[in-house]
Amino acid sequence: MPHAKKSSNSLLSIDDLSNKDIQHILDLAQQIEKKPHKFADYAKGKILSLLFFEPSTRTYFSFASAIQRLGGSVIGFPNAETTSIAKGESLEDTARMMSSYSDIMAVRSGVMGSMQRMSQAIHIPLINAGEGQGEHPTQALTDLYTIRQSCKKLNVTIAFYGDLKFGRTNHSLIKAIARFGAKIICIAPPELQMPKDYVALARKAGAEVILDKDIKKYVKDIDVLYVSRLQKERLPARLNYAVLKKAMNVDLKLVTALKSSAIVMHPLPRVDEIAVSVDTDKRAKYFQQAANAVPVRMAILLLKMGYAFPI
Ligand code: CP
Repeated sequence: MPHAKKSSNSLLSIDDLSNKDIQHILDLAQQIEKKPHKFADYAKGKILSLLFFEPSTRTYFSFASAIQRLGGSVIGFPNAETTSIAKGESLEDTARMMSSYSDIMAVRSGVMGSMQRMSQAIHIPLINAGEGQGEHPTQALTDLYTIRQSCKKLNVTIAFYGDLKFGRTNHSLIKAIARFGAKIICIAPPELQMPKDYVALARKAGAEVILDKDIKKYVKDIDVLYVSRLQKERLPARLNYAVLKKAMNVDLKLVTALKSSAIVMHPLPRVDEIAVSVDTDKRAKYFQQAANAVPVRMAILLLKMGYAFPI
C-alpha cells in the first residue's frame, strides 16, 4: 500500500489539473471500479469533512460513500444551520476548526470566492464541491469519466443544452473537454448562454465552439447531449422561469432522433427537463453518470491526500 504524504493539494477549479492529472484520475477511477476490494483499506484512519452550505444529494453522499469505501470516515454537515455559522462564525474560522478534525475537506457554497478564502485558512486539501455560479470540478471529472466509458474517447462533439449561464457543471466541463479536442455546441436562449469567458477559454484551448438557440440542425452530429437544469435559485427576477423552462425540454422524440451511438447526460437533479420516458432509452446515461461519482471521487480523495500510484 502506498504511503500518504502531508499535502495541501487543493482542487478549487478544473484549471488546477493538467491533462495528465485528469487522465490519471480517470485511469485510477477505472481501476477502482474494476477491483474496489483492492482499495478498501487505503484511507483507513483518514477523515473527510463535508461542509455543505447548499443542498445536495449526489455530491454529498457520493463523497461520504467514497471515503467509507476507502476505509475512512466522514464528519460534517449537509447544511450550516446546526453549526456555529448560525451564531455568526466566519467561513475561515469554520474551515479552520473542521480542518483540525479531518484530513481532507470538501465544500459546497453559494458564495463566489468562499473556496479561495477557506483554502487559504487551512493546511489540508480543500475540494470544491460546487461554488455558486462558478465551477464544480469533481462533477466535470465524473462527466469525463462517463464520456470516456461510453464513447471510448474524449474528442467528441458535445452539445451543452440548458442553463449554461448559471449551471456550474457546464463551466468546469467546457474548460476540461476543450483541452481534449472536443467540438462544442452551446444551445441556450441568449439570456442563459455560456458566459463569454468560458467560451473564450475553450477556444483558446483549441476547441471549435458554436453558440445557437436551436438544437435541431445539430441532432445528427451530437455524440454527447449534456442537459442541465434551469438554476431557479440563481435566476435573476427579470427572467421568467416558466417561459425559459418550457423552451428547454428533452423528450423521447428528440432523443430517438440522435445517433444510436449518442449519449444523453445530465448532472442531476432534473426538474422535468428530461422526460421520464427517456430513462429506458439506451442513450440515457445520467443515472450511470451519478453512480460513476463514487469511483471518481475515491480516486480524487486518494490522489489529493497524497497517495501515489504509478501511471
Ligand atoms: N450533480 C450534483 O451536483 O448534484 P447534487 O446537487 O445533488 O450534489
